[in-house]
Amino acid sequence: MKQTEMINKTKQWVKNQLLEEKTGHDWQHIRRVTKQAEEMAEVEGADKLVVTLAALTHDLIDDKVVESEEQGLQMVNQWFSEIGLSDTERNHIINIITSMSFKGGNNKAMTTLEGKIVQDADRLDALGAIGIARTFIYSGSKGQPMYDPALSVRDSMTLEEYRNGQSSAINHFYEKLLKLKDLMNTEEGKRIASVRHTFMEEFLEQFYDEWGNE
Ligand code: ADP
Ligand code: NI
Repeated sequence: MKQTEMINKTKQWVKNQLLEEKTGHDWQHIRRVTKQAEEMAEVEGADKLVVTLAALTHDLIDDKVVESEEQGLQMVNQWFSEIGLSDTERNHIINIITSMSFKGGNNKAMTTLEGKIVQDADRLDALGAIGIARTFIYSGSKGQPMYDPALSVRDSMTLEEYRNGQSSAINHFYEKLLKLKDLMNTEEGKRIASVRHTFMEEFLEQFYDEWGNE
């Protein structure tokens, strides 16, 4: 199978997997991340096939999307075998997507250029106007308020508070979004993140302004 065919087939397959997704891991997120990652791969001279396929499948092993990471991995591995990807490429991609998530400190440092690019592209989609919108959608789906002055400004929560969903969309900026700018791997990633960071700071300022005091 030719590379373009592998990519197009995988796009269609991933799209079908995510038809029912409502938590922010929908196909449109994948589409944006993949486009961003492809552009960065071009600039940085990275392996385009690995970058594109990793971007396309990066959320398919998230336990918000599938039953378990294990089940997701099995599904993705099988797909890559079906389209005839080499073992080296398959292992590289699996390595990237398992290293990617930013959860409870278990995110591993990316060792390859391709991994750095895909991780940056995913993080960029959590920033800026889209990032703000995704945060409010996610919080809404969890029944959280958009803002609770009693909770803000805090950058960490206890496990108990997490389990009880005691947070807010605004608080998520401090828990995660405003930290991402300093975690970017590539120069292009840093540049775009910085623009989106400034936009989010302006958004917060205006939000507090409009909220007023009780
Ligand atoms: P991804 O790896 O695709 O960024 P995440 O599961 O980390 O996926 O998050 C999906 C989206 O929901 C992101 O935009 C993220 O910022 C947002 N999000 C994640 N956790 C929370 C939360 N506790 N409150 C509000 N938004 C969240
Ligand atoms: Ni993602």
